[in-house]
Formats: sequence, structure tokens, C-alpha cells
Amino acid sequence: MNPKTICLIPGDGIGQEVIPATAEVLQSMNLNLRFVEAEAGFAYFQRHGEALPPETLELARQADAVLFGATASPSGPMPGYRSPILALRREFDLYANLRPVASLPGEFSRPGIDLLIVRENTEGLYSGRERREGDTAIAERVITRRGSERIVRVACEQARQHAQRRGRPATVTIVHKANVLKITDGLFRECALQIAAEYPDIAIQELLVDAAAMKLVKAPQSFDVIVTTNLFGDILSDEASALVGGLGVAPSANLGQGTPVFEPVHGSAPDIAGQGIANPIGALLSAALMLETLGEQQAAEQLRQAVFATLEEGLCTPDLGGSATTAQFTQRVRIYLQELRS
Ligand code: NAI
Ligand code: MG
Repeated sequence: MNPKTICLIPGDGIGQEVIPATAEVLQSMNLNLRFVEAEAGFAYFQRHGEALPPETLELARQADAVLFGATASPSGPMPGYRSPILALRREFDLYANLRPVASLPGEFSRPGIDLLIVRENTEGLYSGRERREGDTAIAERVITRRGSERIVRVACEQARQHAQRRGRPATVTIVHKANVLKITDGLFRECALQIAAEYPDIAIQELLVDAAAMKLVKAPQSFDVIVTTNLFGDILSDEASALVGGLGVAPSANLGQGTPVFEPVHGSAPDIAGQGIANPIGALLSAALMLETLGEQQAAEQLRQAVFATLEEGLCTPDLGGSATTAQFTQRVRIYLQELRS
């Protein structure tokens, strides 16, 4: 069988640390994978005047999956710059952003959490329709029937799989703010309830986003699958990651029409970049999601087990309260994988 091709896009900052570390772990697993590396990001933009060169886009298009690190972005408008991850999501119509949040072994994590945030990835407040009229600035929040229906379908399908793994009935929580955003979230809510009705085996509940933010802190164990619009999903998933150790441990998958893109939720972390202490768990767990999508369920499970075993030993990076380096952590993961796979 032809090997599956993984396009690695490390990007900026700690992306350059966690992606090579993850690629090394994947390579040590001797799976039928081929790796190609491609450039993108702010440093690349400063040298070449574009953040996502056409060669990178082509390599990503031809690959079976992309493993993306993070890129830095300018804080103000910068002519010619567009965020590579937003561009990839748009280019490949990756409308579903899956962000699982599950308890990890360690005092930094609360126990009993196993939830999945399904975030709409292409519209909402990220429509790119922002303008300034004198001293008034306006962003357009675009919600469509098509966008809402397809993201809720993904959430319901994921909920079925999630329920099977957890061995309990599926619940999907629709998170919105339809009491205020009557028209935009009104449409999202209407579509969500319509689609959910096609899944009689799934329990449906609704929460307003502010209440959801509170309940995530108070009773995170009560959630199964959450489906929501773009910005709410972005914020709630960072919040949820803090319950199990923070941004350094949070993985994600971007799924849709074109090549799926897997990426840790964190950014380029300029405050710790170059020190060799970035937590590789977010990237490693993203690689596990990637392996699952590529049909390598067993390898995905082994990779997760190896991360768990390493944490159970008490080894972790400074963001989780430990003193391990990225290299020490991944080295240990590789040793566990060798044992698990021999
Ligand atoms: P960030 O995620 O880079 O960092 C937030 C905090 O979490 C920092 O204190 C950082 O040290 C810590 N952190 C994050 N990942 C970590 C890891 N793996 N190990 C240990 N500590 C970790 O978010 P921030 O500071 O808001 O953004 C920095 C840059 O990253 C910005 O230019 C932003 O635009 C960009 N960014 C890019 C994303 C992407 O490429 N998908 C996503 C989020 C931010
Ligand atoms: Mg975010």
C-alpha cells in the first residue's frame, strides 16, 4: 500500500519545537507514513512577503493530512498578511473544528472530564467582514442555514461515536445567545434543533453561552458534546482546556471538504519560544486525532497511552508544574511506544 503523506507545517515560535518533536515520535512508530515539510507563518512573511506560499498550499492539498504548529500574527492590520490557518480552513472548507477536552493524570487536571467542543470554523464573527466608519467599527456576524446545519450534523455524528466509546447515551448541548442575537443565533438555534431532531437517540439541551461558560467551570463532568458558533467555540475551548492543564495540552482537528488539518490549540507562545520547554502534549494528541482519521485507530490509542504513562510517572513540562524539557518528555513517550508496539 502507498504510504499516507503527512504535510508538516511547524510555523512560528514553539510550532518549530512541538511539530518536529511530534514528527519524531510518529516516525519512531514505523507506520506507513511519509512526511513532507512546508513553510508558513509570520517569519516567512517577513522574509518573502506572503504567509502561506502557493508551494505550501499545494503540498497540503496533495497530502492526506496536515499537522500544523502555530503561527504568530501581527496585532494590527498588516497589508498582504493573512493568517495561514484561517487561509487553510477557508481554502479546504474545513468547517468543523473538533476540540476534545479530557482529564489527564496529574494534579494539574480535574478528574472525570471527557467532552468535545464542536466549533463552527468558517463563519460567525470570523467572516472577515469588518469595517471602520469614522469612529465606529463594525464586524458582521454571518450565520447561514447551510453552515449551521452541517456543523450540527458533525456534532451529532461525533456524539454517537463519543457515546459508544464512553458507554453512555449521547448528549449534545447547543450553545448560543439567541436571547440577544435573535436573528443570527435565532437561525443557528432553529437549524440546530431541526437537525438534532433527526437523531432521536441523542439527548439535546440548550445553554446560553454565558451560562455555558459558568457551567464549564462548575460542572465540566456533566458535558458530552457541545456545538456552537465560531467565536463562542474559540473562547469556550480555551476555557475548557484550563480544566485539564491549559493550552499546552489541548489538541484539535479541522475537518471538512479538503485535506484535514490537525493542530494544537495554542499559539506561537513567544514568551517561551526557543527555550526547549514547550509542552508537546497538544501536538501529540493532535497527531493521535490525525492517526484516527487516517484509519490508524490502534496507533492513535497507543500514542495516547504513551502520553498518559509519561504523565503518570510525574514527568511534565513547566506549564504543568514540572521541569521536563520538550525533548525529555517526547523521549519518554517514544520509549513507552516502543514497549506498547513490540
Ligand atoms: P499562546 O497560546 O501562544 O500562549 C498563551 C500562553 O500559554 C503563554 O503564556 C504560553 O507560554 C502558554 N502556552 C501556550 N502553548 C504552550 C505550550 N505548548 N507549552 C507551554 N506553554 C504554552 O497565545 P497568545 O500568547 O495569545 O498568542 C501568541 C501568538 O500566537 C499570537 O501572535 C497569536 O496571534 C498566535 N496564535 C496563533 C494560533 C494559531 O496559529 N492557530 C492560535 C492562537 C494564537
Ligand atoms: Mg483560540
